[in-house]
Amino acid sequence: MTTVAHASDKAIGIFDSGIGGLTVAKAIGEALPSENLVYLGDTGRYPYGTKSADVVQRYSEENARFLVDKGIKLMVVACNTASAVALEALRDVVDVPVIGVIEPGAAAAVEATHNRKVGVIGTDATIRSGAYTRALRAVRSDLEIYTRACPLFVPLAEEGWVDNEVARETAGIYLASLRNSGIDTLVLGCTHYPLLRTVIGRVLGESVRLIDSAEATAAAVGVALAQAGLARAAGRSASSFFVTDAPDRFIKVGARFLGSQVDSAVQIER
Ligand code: DGL
Repeated sequence: MTTVAHASDKAIGIFDSGIGGLTVAKAIGEALPSENLVYLGDTGRYPYGTKSADVVQRYSEENARFLVDKGIKLMVVACNTASAVALEALRDVVDVPVIGVIEPGAAAAVEATHNRKVGVIGTDATIRSGAYTRALRAVRSDLEIYTRACPLFVPLAEEGWVDNEVARETAGIYLASLRNSGIDTLVLGCTHYPLLRTVIGRVLGESVRLIDSAEATAAAVGVALAQAGLARAAGRSASSFFVTDAPDRFIKVGARFLGSQVDSAVQIER
């Protein structure tokens, strides 16, 4: 006798340039606790945020193929940089729904702003791509948008330096002009930035709402699965983690991003 698994039991595939996408995996796990997850962190080629769009697109397509081979039902591009430059290309090469982090984050920001002044921070490649600006304007055309690359936030988050003097000083320098621009909403447009939320919030003050793309994306995944009739209603879920280099570091540093222990990570050879 053969057992035919229901399509909803298939996993959600998630990829990122490395560890940071675990903030998105965490948000999905919290919003949709019955879903099975397969996560790929391209730790061997991290970071993406300093690379050209062409290279990030090529890496993203390879990551997507790996996940599709695992028999996933939906793919989440957790990396803001990959979402910014590769999402459309990925939708052409894979046959499952693909959700990036930019559109959900932009929609949440438009909903949050009262004064139409929205800030976006991200990696160099994300900011350079203009993807957040396009996504924000697509939802609401009359916004004033201010953007700023904050590349040092990524290594600070991985080092765990999220609320010390170095983090405070760095945030103060990066965010000074955003603070003076009168924004009332800021999109944390990078997987790592939710870890620096406290320090970023302190620099900008309580009047600025911080939008976590990870949370907005988890909500969008829930809606997409429900619409496709692919939501897994109940039951214990399982998560598997794959990396392209240094699984030990992924497990050690990853716990802070996932908010719980990463039990094991399997290295794939390329
Ligand atoms: N995951 C990347 C992002 O969200 C940050 C790290 C990197 O540069 O690869 O843009």
